[in-house]
Amino acid sequence: MRCSVCGQEAVIRLRHAGLRLCPQHLVARVEKEVEGAIRRFRMFSPETRVLVAVSGGKDSLALWHILAKSGYRADGLFIDLGIEGYSGRSQDVAQAFAEERGLTLHVVSLAEELGATLDELTRIARGKPCSLCGTVKRYLMNRLAWEGGYSALATGHNLDDEAATLLGNVLRWEEDYLSRQYPVLPGEGKLVRKAKPLVFLSEREMAAYCLITGIRYLKEDCPHAQGARSIVLKGILNQLEDRYPATKISFLRQFLRVRDRFRPPEPARLGECQSCGMPTAAEGTCRFCRLKEAVTRHTSRHGTPA
Ligand code: AMP
Ligand code: FES
Ligand code: ZN
Ligand code: ZN
Repeated sequence: MRCSVCGQEAVIRLRHAGLRLCPQHLVARVEKEVEGAIRRFRMFSPETRVLVAVSGGKDSLALWHILAKSGYRADGLFIDLGIEGYSGRSQDVAQAFAEERGLTLHVVSLAEELGATLDELTRIARGKPCSLCGTVKRYLMNRLAWEGGYSALATGHNLDDEAATLLGNVLRWEEDYLSRQYPVLPGEGKLVRKAKPLVFLSEREMAAYCLITGIRYLKEDCPHAQGARSIVLKGILNQLEDRYPATKISFLRQFLRVRDRFRPPEPARLGECQSCGMPTAAEGTCRFCRLKEAVTRHTSRHGTPA
């Protein structure tokens, strides 16, 4: 198999892009796609202070690596969710990555911020871990970015993530989510701008990128991911992709094309949480502060978080 660009031995075939690539040209393609997305959607500029949310997985570490290499002012944020075993291993990988490259990594602990780990919160609030996790992560990412004076928050969501989210939103016709599913979301006030520069890059490309550039990442999935709806949707999309290459990329691209002809969503009109002062769509206190109150009540009654 020969590289479509240079004719040398290719190591990966990207059927959805009609390409076979050698290591050098796979790296070049990934970096070009990232730069292309940043410019096309005006995510941020080289002067912007960007906070990259890093999980220890391949996507967010590769994103941070590319941004730093391309001269962006990018620091990292790791949220220790307190998921037994998994969170500690993720943090070790993220910290080793930052130290090796002399990059700044902020670490925040859910146990300290909320009074309970995600495992404990799941028992107290009796919710699904992934949905609670999404709520607390979004809140902490935004608050830490705001408090740290960052003008943009970048996450490692890739094509597979975005296509699965889109399918999930379409199946339920979640109009509100659909109107806000976009590679960039503007910020306003204490709501920091959000960017997803990897939206057009597949999981396979990101894994290959890490392998070639020597990025060590945690290969393990979160223990709560098993059975999660997003994993089922990803599996279905993979089956479709096998039979009909480019299903995912055209699903996402066509959606973006019809969605308001590339007009970014309006900034959300939000009030301020009475307790923490951060933006919220809820009346009174935000969801994070309400979870925190539930944890405090539980702890004062039972002595321990869960
Ligand atoms: P996920 O929600 O696990 O699919 O992850 C999507 C993106 O959220 C990742 O690419 C990261 O940018 C970010 N992220 C996930 N987990 C963490 C974490 N524990 N700390 C910081 N960022 C995270
Ligand atoms: Fe959030 Fe698994 S990382 S539930
Ligand atoms: Zn080549
Ligand atoms: Zn609050």
